[in-house]
Amino acid sequence: MKDKERVPAIKDTDLSDQSHLYTLPAMLRLFTVIVCVALALGAPNRHCEDVLARAGLTTKYNETIAHAVHSMTVDALKLFNPRATANNRVPTVNQDLNQSQKVLPYAPHTETGSGFSTMTMNIIDGILSQIGHSNDGLGPNWSPIERVAHVFHMWDLWHKIYTTTWQDIQTDIPSQATCDCVLDVDNNGVKAAVQWVADHYESGTPITLLNRPIPKLTDAQSWGVWRDRLLHYYTPAALKDAAIYLYCETQHM
Ligand SMILES: *[C@@H]1O[C@H](CO)[C@@H](O)[C@H](O)[C@H]1NC(C)=O
Ligand SMILES: *[C@@H]1O[C@H](CO)[C@@H](O)[C@H](O)[C@H]1NC(C)=O
Repeated sequence: MKDKERVPAIKDTDLSDQSHLYTLPAMLRLFTVIVCVALALGAPNRHCEDVLARAGLTTKYNETIAHAVHSMTVDALKLFNPRATANNRVPTVNQDLNQSQKVLPYAPHTETGSGFSTMTMNIIDGILSQIGHSNDGLGPNWSPIERVAHVFHMWDLWHKIYTTTWQDIQTDIPSQATCDCVLDVDNNGVKAAVQWVADHYESGTPITLLNRPIPKLTDAQSWGVWRDRLLHYYTPAALKDAAIYLYCETQHM
């Protein structure tokens, strides 16, 4: 109620300042005030929830997208657009979780090795060369084999997105309104969900954003639990959420 009363109050003050009512500058100013009040009331978020639901995103798109991008790198973005650089706006967990800023507003370049002949071995070299430095974006709690599983899981997911829903949306591309809403990560919950991941890396090794305990990866039995968790976001609906976000983010690079 209080917020609604503010609209006429600001409008009156603004217009009474103007000796020339209804001139273009006055109307622009009034428009700006209305937009600001609308933003303060959160109206665009409700609008975006509708837009994204109509575009076929799930109600948990914050979590499916945050999972798909939380450890995104420039190399991975290049899968979706070869022109990708660190000049992107994908929110990621800071590789160095000792810094106070836990979430970066972009996906960074990361080092992979180059001394080996296959990509796989070079990635393993990159992971193992960081063990003990806790600056690979996972925090202090992951064992070496858990770090290896995480990195290859993410590459596997990005390839899965690329070979499935990414291909589908090329013939049914997201609208500008959908892209505007899905890219508004500060307000649509995606950045908050990446922050959730960063916060939980301080105390554990979350694989999903479901806040379930997970055993240390030590044997076939614990791997069985890990495998189920790792496959959680491989549903067509979750893959589509991620593909739409990645399409919108990379289409203009
Ligand atoms: C992060 O902080 C911990 C504890 O203070 C320390 O042991 C570790 O070396 C730090 N890591 C980096 C990458 O600075
Ligand atoms: C994602 O959004 C849902 C629905 O708004 C909310 O219940 C959930 O807490 C959010 N998840 C995270 C990790 O922020």
